[in-house]
Amino acid sequence: MEYTITAEEFQRFRTLIYNESGISLSEQKQTLLASRLSKRLRDLSLSTFAEYYENVTKDPTREEFTRMLDLISTNKTDFFREPKHFDFLRERIMPELFGEKRIRIWSSACSTGEEPYTIAMTLFEHAPNPSQWDFKILASDISTRVLSKAAAGLYQEDRFRDVPSDVLKRHFLRGRGESAGMFKVKPHLAAVIQFRRLNLMDSQFPIKNPLDLIFCRNVMIYFDRPTQATLVNKFYRYLKPGGYLFIGHSESLQWVEHSFKSLAPTIYQKEL
Ligand SMILES: C[S@@+](CC[C@H](N)C(=O)[O-])C[C@H]1O[C@@H](n2cnc3c(N)ncnc32)[C@H](O)[C@@H]1O
Repeated sequence: MEYTITAEEFQRFRTLIYNESGISLSEQKQTLLASRLSKRLRDLSLSTFAEYYENVTKDPTREEFTRMLDLISTNKTDFFREPKHFDFLRERIMPELFGEKRIRIWSSACSTGEEPYTIAMTLFEHAPNPSQWDFKILASDISTRVLSKAAAGLYQEDRFRDVPSDVLKRHFLRGRGESAGMFKVKPHLAAVIQFRRLNLMDSQFPIKNPLDLIFCRNVMIYFDRPTQATLVNKFYRYLKPGGYLFIGHSESLQWVEHSFKSLAPTIYQKEL
């Protein structure tokens, strides 16, 4: 059975979701929201969306809010998704840091971890003498559910179809016995990534040292222009002069006021 949501209930959810996560649901999404959340209402044995709203807002752990977000937004991601960004990291950004041998990157909507692990594999594969480098990747998401999967670093073999097999072997361990068909991240790769729950709507982020690069891919598509503008201007503050911002391939900052220099579609640089 599918539950119906009244126009008023839809507005309450819409405002809540926008205020808490920046995700902007258009007026046309009323039926979509009802269909995405119906199963959850059923699982909780609730009879109306008004009851579910109470449930979401009264939960001090915010866990139900996170579950709801997971149902309405997508966590879709892949290893080496949008590979031009990793080529740019290897060919342009890393050589700029050959002297310093230190790199600080933020994967700011990391979902289940494929993005930060891809960044880490790129760094290990292409830094001359990686043991002499200081790599740090902060990987964050609003969803604690995806973050726990990311931190576990355990994936089905078919997730690695875009990872060359020698690269995979160097950075992931093939599971045996009960874990056959799975690969687990090796400690050297896990050690350079710190996973943390962060909401991109927060007014500031717990980042002390200026960053070389921020990935914010395939999440701004859910935000309206004012929210995108606020976010990219916050990113600007956390980057080093000359630092870079990558956004998703279906996203654009064309209509957003910002101070970045546009180097290529989806690649931006803070002024030096
Ligand atoms: C489609 S995934 C993108 C994953 C990865 N960046 C990529 O491009 O493959 C979008 C992620 O954004 C997260 N997200 C949505 N709103 C957010 C917010 N306000 N703060 C942080 N993360 C958010 C979702 O939980 C989801 O995991």
